[in-house]
Amino acid sequence: MSISRPTVRAAADAPFLVAARGGLPSRRPVWIMRQAGRYLPEYRAVRQTRTFLQMCYDADAATEVTLQPIRRYGLDAAILFTDLLVPVPPMGIELAFDPAPVLKRTVRTRADVDALRVPDPERDFAPMLATAAQVRAALSPDVALIGFVGAPFTVACYLVEGKGSKNWDLARRLLHGEPATFDALLAKITDALLPLVQALADAGCDAVQVFDSWAGVLAAGDYVKRCAPWTERLLAAARQRGAIAIDYVNGATQHVAAMADSCAEVLAVDWRSDLGFFRRQVPATKALQGNLDPTALFASEADLRSQVRACCDAAGPAGHVFNLGHGVLPETDPDQVRIAVDEARRAWP
Ligand code: CP3
Repeated sequence: MSISRPTVRAAADAPFLVAARGGLPSRRPVWIMRQAGRYLPEYRAVRQTRTFLQMCYDADAATEVTLQPIRRYGLDAAILFTDLLVPVPPMGIELAFDPAPVLKRTVRTRADVDALRVPDPERDFAPMLATAAQVRAALSPDVALIGFVGAPFTVACYLVEGKGSKNWDLARRLLHGEPATFDALLAKITDALLPLVQALADAGCDAVQVFDSWAGVLAAGDYVKRCAPWTERLLAAARQRGAIAIDYVNGATQHVAAMADSCAEVLAVDWRSDLGFFRRQVPATKALQGNLDPTALFASEADLRSQVRACCDAAGPAGHVFNLGHGVLPETDPDQVRIAVDEARRAWP
């Protein structure tokens, strides 16, 4: 199947796109990391009859759940419903979600790395690309579509360990203990993801976010030298295809200098750092996205509003996309998300 470039795109004056380019939009753009998910009853209704992976491979189901939070909250960006581990099976490793990911094999030796396949996006990611085209066609021009991939280090964490981990000791041991194997693994993951980034941009994504969810376990020097250069290639590929590049680093405080050097137009900041600190540390041309603590959605309405306001005030009106600092938790009350969205829009000069 060949994916042709759709004519539909977000308008140049869409609030997300204006803010992502550092400008002053008509209103503060808002979206929520993991906005399509189990905290929404309409998501659970679709999910009830299918596994999570079946949803990822079913373009109609994935389109529906991608659009659900847009309908409910009138958000400024939709994020494609998939997972950063969807590229793992076409690389040759079986994957299940229960609900957390479990891989059938791990990748720890040079032979394991060499055995990994590089997927062909149009063959192996056809449902994801079809979802992108369908969602883009369904969105109004003032709403942006964000596609995403995992950063090579974060994907490597799962390949090395086979499941979630607190500090990813095995992945970090490989980085130091078998440096050539670790570097070859990140190179292979980058080879696998780079054509996907390009295909997502071509299929209608206005932006591509690279999720480095576990970079927070890395020392600053290891991140700069061994991991960030691979992320950089994915961000650059998005930009080359005309998509906005968003660099999300969870545990970003020790990596702020590396993020300042990245080519991403938008830096997505976790909840631990103050956005004012980021404003002072990164070039003024970069937009910031974030960064409410997802657990602040469990506060009283008054406290939630004041925390959202503090985050918006620290960022300023121009070049800011309001979001959480990490994904919304499944136990979150959807009405609390509505309050946060409302307050972020009110926090406007
Ligand atoms: O933001 C969105 O609405 C798009 C959806 C999205 C999912 N995964 C769907 C999902 C996004 C952006 C991701 C990225 C992702 N996946 C990350 C990076 C973001 C982050 O939170 O740091 C990571 C680390 C993963 C890997 C992953 N997938 C884990 C650890 C888990 C289990 C934990 C959990 O949240 O359930 C998943 C499963 C997953 N990915 C679900 C969803 C909606 C839950 C599956 C279900 O319905 O049972």
